[in-house]
Amino acid sequence: MQHVELEVYRVWDRSVRWFHWINVLSVLALLGTGLVIYNGKTLGIAGDAKILLKELHVWSGYIFALNLGWRIVQGFSGSYFARWRAILPFSRNYLTELGAYLRSLRGGEPRQYLGHNPLGRLMVLLLFLLLITQAITGLVLAGTDLYYPPLGNWIAQWVAPAGVDPASLVAGNKSMVDALAWDEMRAFRKPFISLHVQVFFVLLGAVVLHVAGVVIAELRERSGFISAMITGDKALTKPPVDMPE
Ligand code: HEM
Repeated sequence: MQHVELEVYRVWDRSVRWFHWINVLSVLALLGTGLVIYNGKTLGIAGDAKILLKELHVWSGYIFALNLGWRIVQGFSGSYFARWRAILPFSRNYLTELGAYLRSLRGGEPRQYLGHNPLGRLMVLLLFLLLITQAITGLVLAGTDLYYPPLGNWIAQWVAPAGVDPASLVAGNKSMVDALAWDEMRAFRKPFISLHVQVFFVLLGAVVLHVAGVVIAELRERSGFISAMITGDKALTKPPVDMPE
């Protein structure tokens, strides 16, 4: 058997690893509860059960959105490989690097990276765009559907009939609201729910692609990057092309 020298490098800091795994768990919970809400009619879920399901979805959504917000800040102030500069496909030499990486793949000797390889950076961009869209649209829906923060108070004031305390409105009870204001609010909600559902399907595909990409790259490059997201360290067989200066 051929003996291969491995060099171990620290890559992902504690904050990136916590973000990643909290994100995995909360997105799985959101995909799961979202799928049940989406098929609610077929599954015969209505009334209080439907509201409870949405509440469960929204509480997972708050964890997800706070975690995502924290990671966005880390992109500006975190360690070298946590920064946007290192993980998005916008660096000056990105296209040259992508070409070199694809050629090295075809040649059977893939270039090794400490951070994401150039294809990984595209995936990171796509995932962040989808996650941010879900967080924004979801937070609006939490207000329109449950009168939950951050917009819940404003939505309740919008649909409460004159003389009725907006705080007394009960989610799902249409007999308590002003019918005209309710229709206006539902028209405002429509583009948000459409986008939330469309991005849900795209995200399902992107998650499958992300996991497949990681597994395929791991098998080809043997960079140990699945375990790196747990321990923070990568073990490479060749010197990395993206060593921090
Ligand atoms: C990865 C993130 C997310 C995914 C994949 C996701 C997925 C879904 C799906 C599939 C539905 C069902 C839509 C329908 O049939 O009407 C849904 C509904 C909903 N989502 Fe999310 N969601 C995510 C994040 C969030 C967040 C962060 C919040 C708020 C904090 C949120 C709040 C809501 C609400 C209130 C509904 C109910 C809308 C309705 O059907 O009446 N979601 N979500």
